[in-house]
Amino acid sequence: MMNWEALEQTCKSCQKCALADTRHNVVFGVGPRDAEVMCIGEGPGENEDLQGEPFVGRAGKLLDDMLELIDLDRTKNVYIANIVKCRPPQNRDPLNTEQDACIGYLRNQVALIRPKIIVCLGRVAAVRLIREDFKITREHGQWLTKAGVQMTALYHPAAILRDPSKRPDTFQDLKSLQAKIQEVCNHTY
Ligand code: URA
Repeated sequence: MMNWEALEQTCKSCQKCALADTRHNVVFGVGPRDAEVMCIGEGPGENEDLQGEPFVGRAGKLLDDMLELIDLDRTKNVYIANIVKCRPPQNRDPLNTEQDACIGYLRNQVALIRPKIIVCLGRVAAVRLIREDFKITREHGQWLTKAGVQMTALYHPAAILRDPSKRPDTFQDLKSLQAKIQEVCNHTY
């Protein structure tokens, strides 16, 4: 396992997969490194690739609004990262081979942060981190524990933008996340 400085430097010069050839920036992650809550998306889109920060486009604005509803803020108390750190062309889902090449960086981030709660944003992150056959439509908002960490999945903010009928379920899931934070976190609120 690497320390933060070595990890960030290694990740930002990564050439383990072909996404390195088309990226503008590696999107490492953002937020306090002592956060008790981590949110994990699938991979950078165009805005994120250009700016080097996760969730900064239209879906990112919605994510910030969702988090604000339950007093979470990427500058204060939640760390945000992705399964893959470089943008897949045309925003396709990251290939399994790309995820395999990159997941070690996320695992190292999790090992350094030691979060109490991991929130998967969307199906790709949930399938990779929770269960291979995870069904986001049926299982969003459900809780399970893995290696002592409370885990759940929310609909991806981009999916909510495409289908506003997902908003009421997401509101419920956020209230459930707020209650879980009150139950297991020590310095988030
Ligand atoms: N979608 C993601 O999954 N991650 C980002 O960083 C941006 C959009």
